[in-house]
Amino acid sequence: MTIQVAAAAPSKPRLSPLAGAAMVMLVSASTVANPAALANADLSRRVDALIRRMTLDEKIGQLTQIGADRPGPNKETAHELIRSGRAGSVLWTINSEDIRKMQEIAVKESRLGIPLLFGFDVIHGYKNYFPVPIGLASSWDPALVERTAAIAAKEASVSGVNWTFAPMLDIARDARWGRMVEGAGEDTFLGVAMARAQVRGFQGPALGTPDRVLATAKHFAAYGAADGGRDYDSAYVPDVQLHNVYFPPFRAAVDAGVGTVMAAYMTLNDVPASGSRWLMTDVLRKDMGFKGFVISDAWSVASLEAHRFARDSAEAAERGIKAGVNMDMGSNTYLTRLPRLVKLGKVPMSVIDQAVREVLAIKVRMGLFERPYADLSRKETVFNDPSHRAATREAAQRSIVLLRNEGALLPLKPSLQRIAVIGPIADSTEEIKGPWTAEAGAAVSVLEGVRARWPQATVEFVRGGDMQRAYALPWDAREGKPAPTLMAEAEMRAEEAKAVEAARRAEVVVLVLGERAGMAGEAASSAALTLQGNQQALLEAVVATGRPVVLLLLNGRPLNITWAASKVASIVEAWFPGTEGGHAIADILSGAVNPSGRLPVTWPRSAGHAPHYYNHNTTHAPEDEGVFTSRYADVSSLPLYPFGHGLSYTSFRYGPLELDGKSISTQSKLRVSVDVENTGAVAGDEVVQLYIHQRSGSATRAVRELKGFKRIRLKPGARERVSFTLGRDELQFWSAAKRGWVFEPTDFDVWVGGDSRASQHANFTVTR
Ligand code: NOJ
Repeated sequence: MTIQVAAAAPSKPRLSPLAGAAMVMLVSASTVANPAALANADLSRRVDALIRRMTLDEKIGQLTQIGADRPGPNKETAHELIRSGRAGSVLWTINSEDIRKMQEIAVKESRLGIPLLFGFDVIHGYKNYFPVPIGLASSWDPALVERTAAIAAKEASVSGVNWTFAPMLDIARDARWGRMVEGAGEDTFLGVAMARAQVRGFQGPALGTPDRVLATAKHFAAYGAADGGRDYDSAYVPDVQLHNVYFPPFRAAVDAGVGTVMAAYMTLNDVPASGSRWLMTDVLRKDMGFKGFVISDAWSVASLEAHRFARDSAEAAERGIKAGVNMDMGSNTYLTRLPRLVKLGKVPMSVIDQAVREVLAIKVRMGLFERPYADLSRKETVFNDPSHRAATREAAQRSIVLLRNEGALLPLKPSLQRIAVIGPIADSTEEIKGPWTAEAGAAVSVLEGVRARWPQATVEFVRGGDMQRAYALPWDAREGKPAPTLMAEAEMRAEEAKAVEAARRAEVVVLVLGERAGMAGEAASSAALTLQGNQQALLEAVVATGRPVVLLLLNGRPLNITWAASKVASIVEAWFPGTEGGHAIADILSGAVNPSGRLPVTWPRSAGHAPHYYNHNTTHAPEDEGVFTSRYADVSSLPLYPFGHGLSYTSFRYGPLELDGKSISTQSKLRVSVDVENTGAVAGDEVVQLYIHQRSGSATRAVRELKGFKRIRLKPGARERVSFTLGRDELQFWSAAKRGWVFEPTDFDVWVGGDSRASQHANFTVTR
């Protein structure tokens, strides 16, 4: 038996969408036995019932994300667009009262009462900031990362933001690309683990989990492969790399139930991602089984014209929607162009209906119709939850990477009497948070952290100069012009001289260099990766004093610190550690916490190393074999610090690898075990890493590939047995010849150790 819910008349409905759905639910409950199938059937009937009642304009409204401050195509305000059902989502609004008002208009004043999605970039926190994503990835701790995303989701959702444009899952093999800061680094296996963790953290076990938000896997796909590391530039990526390197984190996000995917800006192999039916439909939906909806990047539907892909904006709308991009972020191209395209028959109504169906299904699954509003009375309590603040400190502690520690300068003694803290942003309570912040609130600066940790010491602070960009100056949005140069040349020199004096007076110098938050992130490419402003000169001047120097880096990607790597005793990579950054840094510098972060990227010696990644192929003439090799003549081709690198205040010894067999079939699994012992004097965390290599086969495989990792905590003298399982999932690869995944019977190497140069080795054979 079926019941027809309302007809498609564009009049004020007699039944609310919910009432209609409730009736449908009653009917279908008696006919379907399987609960999952029942839920799906109910969902699609509920959504279809709603679609039948929508006008074309209302349908297109659901495919439109408007900017709250930008007038509509006919100068309509956001409120007017929402009231007339011509907006499905609002971009970049975080004011809770504004959100509430707009949601009320949508729910109570628009004809069908369909609630809005409020989308914002909640990247590494909303009120309390965690380390930036590359820092979080340095923790190699997916459970921690899941927790950080859950906290960010709670703070956002209690404010009314119900959709985050995160996580960014772009593999980044080129530090010149500023958005390396927003992802998990260069490795696919680590990227998959972080993708899963973040999707689960943001969304919870299912859409509609209280205090969570809708997540977005972005930017689909291969946005990080931009030519020359220049943001937005073309990417040329062969299928083998797409399938083996760039797609897997997205597949993991889809498997974890991510509700939305964002189309990338750039052209991939000459086709703009936002107009690529192959990407958005064939790969994402058909191959990966994605069931949510696709949002464009900001204005990327309109950009199909800018790319000289579409003839005009009408064709841009047509190609975007037909590619499978459901929602147009910001450009109003769908809003203005789709009505006519449908009337002309260029875009069939079935295409519109399917796009709307996917958007509405997400809104229904989120429970938005039942719970459209945030409970703002909880906001202050949630924002001030001490466990959130504590989690930011813990996450920052785990994300900090000790790159170098000659002569065991670190940890610094508790009895220090005189410390110099030097650096342009060492006292900043803003820059330390990194790019992408929402709610205001001061963080703990490095200077404050050091002062709190050594209360008895005289801590002298000198800025020492500045770190403005050499070419592109930061844009001052309020003034609508480039921000003025931050510090004049003469002043920088005077600051340098003051820094030298302060260094001379100090027992130890904490020299804080790197990047301002705005120098990393979107549209923040760097050609040289050198320390900007007078930072290199400042570094050399301070080191020349002969005082012990700890170089502390605040930055979003590896920079050229090759000079420092041989001249400075200790180097600490703190990334942008977030709200409790200064305290977490002091915890590490003092040894209250043993550093345990590990690099999720290969650290180049020069920008000329790019693209740099440890899992490159074997060449016919490897670096260490004679004259005709693949190495550079002017600088070592080896990284400054390898992928997975990170020191500790203790030491770990690895026992021999034990395999539970010398060969496995393609149907079975191999167990690899190793004993890890803390041989030092303090407790510490080790990140045990497993790498494999396929020795021969139908394609050349990487020299090493990460296929397992585990973070363990060991007391001094303690030992733990760590085991990994290898089978088809870890050993297969995507073959261009077969156009699919292959698991080849051949010989493999396996290594386990504390970074990508792990030396404990064994080998095994895979038989048919
Ligand atoms: C453009 C960025 O590429 C994307 O990552 C972001 O989510 C949107 N702007 C919205 O802020």
